Amino acid sequence: MHQAPATHHSRPSVAIVGAGVIGLSIGWRLAAAGCAVDVYEKGEAGRGASWAAAGMLAAGVESEPGEEALLPLTQASQALWPSFAAELEAASGIEVGYRDEGTLVIALTRDDVERLRFTFELQRRLGLEIEWLGGAAALAREPHLSPRVAAACFSPRDVQVDNRSVARALAAAFRRAGGRLHENTPVEAIDIEGNVARGVVVAGTLRRADVVVLAAGAASPDVPGLPEAVRPPVRPVKGQMLALRMDPSAPLLRHVVWAPNAYLVPRRDGRLLVGATVEERGFDDSLTAGGILALLDGVWRALPGAEELAIDEMWVGFRPGSRDDAPILGLCAIDGLVMATGHHRNGILLAPITGDALSALILDGKTPEAIRPFALQRFERKEPA
Ligand code: FAD
Ligand code: GLY
Repeated sequence: MHQAPATHHSRPSVAIVGAGVIGLSIGWRLAAAGCAVDVYEKGEAGRGASWAAAGMLAAGVESEPGEEALLPLTQASQALWPSFAAELEAASGIEVGYRDEGTLVIALTRDDVERLRFTFELQRRLGLEIEWLGGAAALAREPHLSPRVAAACFSPRDVQVDNRSVARALAAAFRRAGGRLHENTPVEAIDIEGNVARGVVVAGTLRRADVVVLAAGAASPDVPGLPEAVRPPVRPVKGQMLALRMDPSAPLLRHVVWAPNAYLVPRRDGRLLVGATVEERGFDDSLTAGGILALLDGVWRALPGAEELAIDEMWVGFRPGSRDDAPILGLCAIDGLVMATGHHRNGILLAPITGDALSALILDGKTPEAIRPFALQRFERKEPA
């Protein structure tokens, strides 16, 4: 049980299900290390949650009470991002829009200030680098914010990247490293015989591989062939988002801003992303009046000048949320089957460490320390003694 996939004398061959940032990060690292890697994608590479995201690399402000166990992983991946971005740009020839102005979390009412103070104190206790600012200091940093801003927290390490460019760059880097990317090629089943994964079934044919990586995002539990015991407890967590268009030469914001009912992410090209709803609606991909209204209200209260901006785009995506909101990474009860799913709100942030840790696991058979707490086995029911 839980046998490491590294008993191969040469480099293992690897089949990866899903070409989001997670499957592609792992694939890129493995292809660069000399493995024969096939990534199978049912649609277009990078067009799932990885396309829908906001690209915030926010280990600090995204950390919520009860998620303390996740913090070492998110912080470690955040620390990897500057070199990961540089390496990815060099390997792909595609810019990934890494921006390091940091994040402001703003409070507009007295209630907001109380809540912000509570979170600030929690984050300080966790050792996060967060600075408390009065309203005037916040407005000095972002003069177009509402004059009602009463206080803010500044988180210098919570930066951003253009997630759509990252996915494109990963696909290019993976191919340049010799990886084979099969788009519009759904995996019809993971082939498991006895207790061993033999490969994947594509167009009715078994494509053998020494290791199969399940990186199918919110659809991971639906990939056929998985025995119940290793179906990851992952569900789609719907997010509606929109983008407004600013003048890129005179943007209204430079920092990422978390306002009470929306976050705002300014891109270099002038787009201002406004996100996101968090809804339990399965794979319902409809944009709703209520969802968009809430986002527009959130941005308007925080940044009144947004009223004048054109709407550029609206979309829906599905976060792969696990039962405890942390990712599911590593070996499982089927030999040769490796989990890389459940990244929920942090999959862009966690792509570098997921790529490094899972490629290391597949290459040398040892589960890296950083991902040990995130094995599928943590969900196994403990029978009373
Ligand atoms: P995906 O990108 O969904 O990729 C999985 C791929 O598997 C898909 O392309 C799918 O088509 C494919 N697939 C599924 N089934 C099969 C099959 N049978 N055969 C072949 N292919 C298959 N994270 C952050 O870090 N920062 C953010 O700011 C952020 N903002 C977000 C905002 C929104 C609105 C949403 C929805 C998510 C956000 N996230 C953010 C989360 C992040 O987008 C995800 O955690 C991350 O993209 C997950 O990557 P993935 O590769 O696992 O999944
Ligand atoms: N991480 C932002 C979101 O999931 O909406």
